[in-house]
Amino acid sequence: MSIKTIFVTGGAGYIGSHTCIELLQANYNVIVYDNLANSKLESLRRVEQITGKSITFIKGDIRDKDALKNAMTGCDAVIHFAGLKAVGESVEKPLLYYDNNVLGSLCLFHVMQELLIKNIVFSSSATMYGDPEFLPLTEVHRCEATNPYGETKLAIEMMLRALYNSDKDWQIALLRYFNPVGAHESGLIGEDPSGIPNNLMPFITQVAVGKRKQLAVFGNDYQTPDGTGVRDYIHVVDLAKGHLKALEALGRFECDAINLGTGKGYSVLELVGAFEQASGQSIPYIIQDRRPGDISECYADPRKAKDLLGWEAELSLNKMCVDSWRWQKHNPDGY
Ligand code: NAD
Ligand code: UD1
Repeated sequence: MSIKTIFVTGGAGYIGSHTCIELLQANYNVIVYDNLANSKLESLRRVEQITGKSITFIKGDIRDKDALKNAMTGCDAVIHFAGLKAVGESVEKPLLYYDNNVLGSLCLFHVMQELLIKNIVFSSSATMYGDPEFLPLTEVHRCEATNPYGETKLAIEMMLRALYNSDKDWQIALLRYFNPVGAHESGLIGEDPSGIPNNLMPFITQVAVGKRKQLAVFGNDYQTPDGTGVRDYIHVVDLAKGHLKALEALGRFECDAINLGTGKGYSVLELVGAFEQASGQSIPYIIQDRRPGDISECYADPRKAKDLLGWEAELSLNKMCVDSWRWQKHNPDGY
């Protein structure tokens, strides 16, 4: 069966909106289903502006089976981004995370099964690897969730694997993202965190635009070249293209976890330096204690994505910084 109409849960969010661009440009019909809990409809209006194509938007919650059923009828495949993603909040409100992410996904899979829509690309996370036993991280590394957010990702991966084992007609890709940063090069869409950003890049861009005084670097006593934490930052446009490749490769592999990263790690201070160079802005920072739960180093072995999907990240750290800055500069208060 050829795949034409894609049901994108959480498609108004950061990664979802960038993926919608790639889908529309590849001539898929796109239906976005989002409750706007952590996004604005404006993101999709801008996706339409960028692509000159239209999106069908349905405001709804993935825990609402009836609404899902109405919205999904006639779709061929699902890209499932919808979920809550703040690690700290998940520690404070675990039931909210289990309810939204796990129960929501369960409802979605039930409806997919009922409607015989058995193609799905799921947003998983490198957070599942916990503290690495070896680097670079391959997909066979043990998975251990270290917080409720990670537990929900693990639970959803397990649900999908069980579903596949029960019925091999399912075609499933479990994409484990490393650290998405950057923005579409138009500067029209990007990451729009509410409140104080938890993640490094949006914090840096908010310092650069004058919304925050300085960056706090969480620890400079890690076993890394400059003592600060090392991560595998990946441009969100590369990540979005990875979804398209995964969609097109569905069925060519078993229900499988696939890393989406660049394979290269950069430290906090390297990212700060790269951003300063790309933006011409200086980023004042202070060194603080380590953030509880943080690991020292994390980067992907991206070979499986290349082998199975024919995908690899192409955009440089400089491009990630240039594009993050363009988005922030033109949209100091987000959407
Ligand atoms: P985001 O918050 O920008 O997007 C998630 C979208 O899902 C939002 O638009 C939100 O309104 C929607 N949503 C949440 N709960 C919903 C529900 N119950 N029903 C309908 N819609 C709902 O986040 P993002 O960064 O674009 O992440 C997308 C996915 O990728 C998430 O599942 C996240 O856990 C996963 N992920 C993100 C990162 C990252 O660093 N951004 C890393 C690894 C994995
Ligand atoms: C965070 C999430 C993780 C998620 C990942 C990708 C936590 C504990 N983990 O991980 O689940 O998969 O994002 O979105 O939130 N840093 C600073 N100062 C800051 C912010 C961050 O020094 O203000 C440092 C961190 O210590 C880390 C690096 O910057 O070394 C990257 O941090 P961040 O962007 O939050 O990503 P992760 O910690 O990898």
